[in-house]
Amino acid sequence: MIQFDHTTARTFIADHELEAMEPQVAAAAKLLDSRSGPGSDFLGWLDLPLKYDRAEFKRIKAAAKKIRRQSEVLVVIGIGGSYLGAKAAVEFCKPTPPLPIRGGRKKHFDLVFAGNSLSASYHSQVLEAIGDRDFSVNVISKSGTTTEPAVAFRLFRQKLEEKYGKTGARERIYATTDKSRGALKTLATQEGYESFVVPDDVGGRYSVLTAVGLLPIAAAGIDIDALMRGAADAVKQYKKPVKENDCYRYAAVRNALHRKGKDMELLVNYEPRCHYIAEWWKQLFGESEGKDGKGIFPASVDFTTDLHSMGQYIQDGRRMLFETVLEIEKPESDFNLFKTGDDLDGLNYLAGKSLDYINKKAAEGTRMAHTDGGVPNLVVRIPEATPYYLGQLFFFFEKACAISGYLSGVNPFDQPGVEAYKKNMFALLGKK
Ligand code: PA5
Repeated sequence: MIQFDHTTARTFIADHELEAMEPQVAAAAKLLDSRSGPGSDFLGWLDLPLKYDRAEFKRIKAAAKKIRRQSEVLVVIGIGGSYLGAKAAVEFCKPTPPLPIRGGRKKHFDLVFAGNSLSASYHSQVLEAIGDRDFSVNVISKSGTTTEPAVAFRLFRQKLEEKYGKTGARERIYATTDKSRGALKTLATQEGYESFVVPDDVGGRYSVLTAVGLLPIAAAGIDIDALMRGAADAVKQYKKPVKENDCYRYAAVRNALHRKGKDMELLVNYEPRCHYIAEWWKQLFGESEGKDGKGIFPASVDFTTDLHSMGQYIQDGRRMLFETVLEIEKPESDFNLFKTGDDLDGLNYLAGKSLDYINKKAAEGTRMAHTDGGVPNLVVRIPEATPYYLGQLFFFFEKACAISGYLSGVNPFDQPGVEAYKKNMFALLGKK
């Protein structure tokens, strides 16, 4: 299992303080489990890994196979909760190579995300990069009315129809949306696109383990059985009583720190493959807790890269920060440093040490320095970057976020603030 460790933060919150919070955590857990707290219409994610629709899951796997057979590119259109989970999973399990691999006879399959901004330049780059390659589209929108994906879908649908005709395009479009409502549902039914359902009781930011995340993740060639198995194990693990429950402890510790003036949480990673896990996590916690004038501000940094840019602030700036570090215990690959005769770069002292060992020492040194500098450090240990552990991680954060929201007295499942910019944008665009 993944593990949560707050040992080095004990100088900031004593054990008796956490013990004092146990009744509050137990009450929050009871609200969640009895489905009687605010937003309880949106708790479908809570037992989803145990009770998901097996028939749809099979269809997702079949669709993923068909996409890979028919196409060289899958364009995944969606924004917010309809994008970040899949992007996080794909980058975590199969990171985009830092330099595109060219040449060789191997046929490449690429996944590209669109409709996650209104950038004309970005979308024309995607269209240009597809060129004359065969492609399919998975358009994802729970409401079916979100502007960004709707605009992108118009563009890519037109390109598909130009290339394959209306009937051919139909064979390459997959719609993930509400089971009965919204413009996308109407369009999908009318055009006969293969459709997948975003369950009514699962909000966008909690939807990664529904068809929203699963189809693109499976199309990327990632083992979604293992992902769901990991999540299912996490469901069982995080049902345990407060004292034995890492997920509840994480929720309690971050709230205890917040109550002491630590208003901002940085999700830290030492592996580029975790960058989008942080993007997904920021939406999860930001939309769930940031309301009623409250909330821990979720931010993220990629170390050691950002130690050379944000490191100064974290070490010496305003003391309102705490860090949660994602630590991958076993790297996917590693290599040893070797000796050189002249030692002109002064690195011979590292000969025989592996790069991952050096990375881990950097993490340890940073944790000590930041803790000394007044930045409490929490750690989430992930044994390996596999779909199985990712399933655990997704569920760990989802449940911790729900408990955390209840601890701070908000409804963790609504997002009334997201509408404000849309109202102004629509008025400026003259929408009737
Ligand atoms: O969490 C949320 O509700 C939002 O981020 C949505 O996921 C995002 O706005 C996309 O919405 P939809 O799936 O309805 O297009």
